[in-house]
Amino acid sequence: MQTGATSVEPNQSAIIAGRRDPFAGLPITRQIRPPTYRWSNAYSGQRIMSTTRKDFLKLSAAASGALGLGLTPDQVSAAFRPGALAGRSQVAPRKIDVLILGGTGFIGPFQVNYALARGHNVTLFNRGSGREMFPNVETLIGDRNGDLESLRGRRWDLVIDNSRSNPDWVEIAANFLKDSVAQFLYVSSRSAYADLSTVPMTADAPTWTYETAGLTPGDNLPYGLAKAESERIAMRIMPGRTTIVRPGLIIGPEDDTDRFTYWPVRIDRGGEVLAPGDPSDPIQIIDVRDLTEWMIRLGEDGTMGKFNGVGPHTPRPISELLYGIRAVTTAETTFTWVNGDFLSEVGVRPYSHMPVWRPPTPGNEGFARFDLTPEVESGLTFRPLAVTARDTLDFHYSRPLERQAALSAGISAEREAEVLAAWHARQR
Ligand SMILES: NC(=O)c1ccc[n+]([C@@H]2O[C@H](COP(=O)([O-])OP(=O)(O)OC[C@H]3O[C@@H](n4cnc5c(N)ncnc54)[C@H](OP(=O)(O)O)[C@@H]3O)[C@@H](O)[C@H]2O)c1
Repeated sequence: MQTGATSVEPNQSAIIAGRRDPFAGLPITRQIRPPTYRWSNAYSGQRIMSTTRKDFLKLSAAASGALGLGLTPDQVSAAFRPGALAGRSQVAPRKIDVLILGGTGFIGPFQVNYALARGHNVTLFNRGSGREMFPNVETLIGDRNGDLESLRGRRWDLVIDNSRSNPDWVEIAANFLKDSVAQFLYVSSRSAYADLSTVPMTADAPTWTYETAGLTPGDNLPYGLAKAESERIAMRIMPGRTTIVRPGLIIGPEDDTDRFTYWPVRIDRGGEVLAPGDPSDPIQIIDVRDLTEWMIRLGEDGTMGKFNGVGPHTPRPISELLYGIRAVTTAETTFTWVNGDFLSEVGVRPYSHMPVWRPPTPGNEGFARFDLTPEVESGLTFRPLAVTARDTLDFHYSRPLERQAALSAGISAEREAEVLAAWHARQR
């Protein structure tokens, strides 16, 4: 089976009314902040996120109260982890042996760190190119293209397959591991859905098949079909012992694609920001830590089934997203809402040029309107947007200057200014 999975960028033109930001015209300044996000404090047990002075004071006050209740400092710090805010246990119900196929890219390291923090035994399987990342974690060396020998003779409670878009890899691994693992968690994608027009969307919606994609086995597989095929293969080989998680856009620190990062960075630069579409257009995305922590808890609980990995529970309008990001900066930023018709006319595309934003045009109504009741019941929790935005900015400012200057998503400052000028001219 060949895979030619490449872009999953939606490319839809929007038909929505433009609006102008009521706060337009405020003075503009430039903000530079020292980075505070650090891997080392991600799961240190002291705090897992950067905090503003105000947050810190609030947490300290609450923590003193908890200490007065006889809790240890560790219990207090654990109580202020985001999961605790949703009433989830901070203590794993059981210790498990976890095998992560991959583990050293973007989402893998978060799975590893959280699993370790929960006291689990973690083993990685990969080709070893990121071995220095986890010197104290066992890494079995092999290749998904057929060399799985290092996995032989071992047993695990949970295997997480992070592989991107090769159903053959899933088939080989699931066959190899089916008698030695209790649960197979496959990281799929929202792109697996063949039809995103239902509101609300649930995990029962149809996924791509060769038939619906108009392809036959042996063809290059688009990403969505590769994910859907991989899901079916995993469920066929390990029936009743498979967990499918379909994330939407995964965001937060360490994300190298810059698709969400574009917005905090752009807003923190200040000035007039081109805001796409209708302020009410819904957005559902997922902080990489919310996603990966939940995956480990699905393993702790032995939860099988199909789930969506997006958030928050109630879709967030894009205006709330952009204003919420602005709230964590001190930049003087204004937003000018430019309607989708105009953006389409001047060649500014949803998602690829205006990352995160995919308007609910006919056929896409459910893209960011998932009913997440089963996911929340199974333990998915959501960090506040402020935490994600702040940590993303801190991550960004910790990168080399050349990387900071060359975002891989969104549009350039010059292009944005050009589009805004054309939009204002059209309004006159
Ligand atoms: N980013 C998003 O917004 C988004 C949205 C929806 C779904 N997803 C899905 O999320 C997952 C992202 O995974 P990730 O890349 O962050 O996972 P990861 O597990 O952190 O990194 C990929 C791992 O695969 C290993 N690997 C690559 N080629 C290999 C081979 N031939 N044999 C053995 N190991 C190999 C790499 O190590 P070596 O190079 O050392 O082998 C690396 O450890 C994907 O399934 C993606 O489709 C992403």
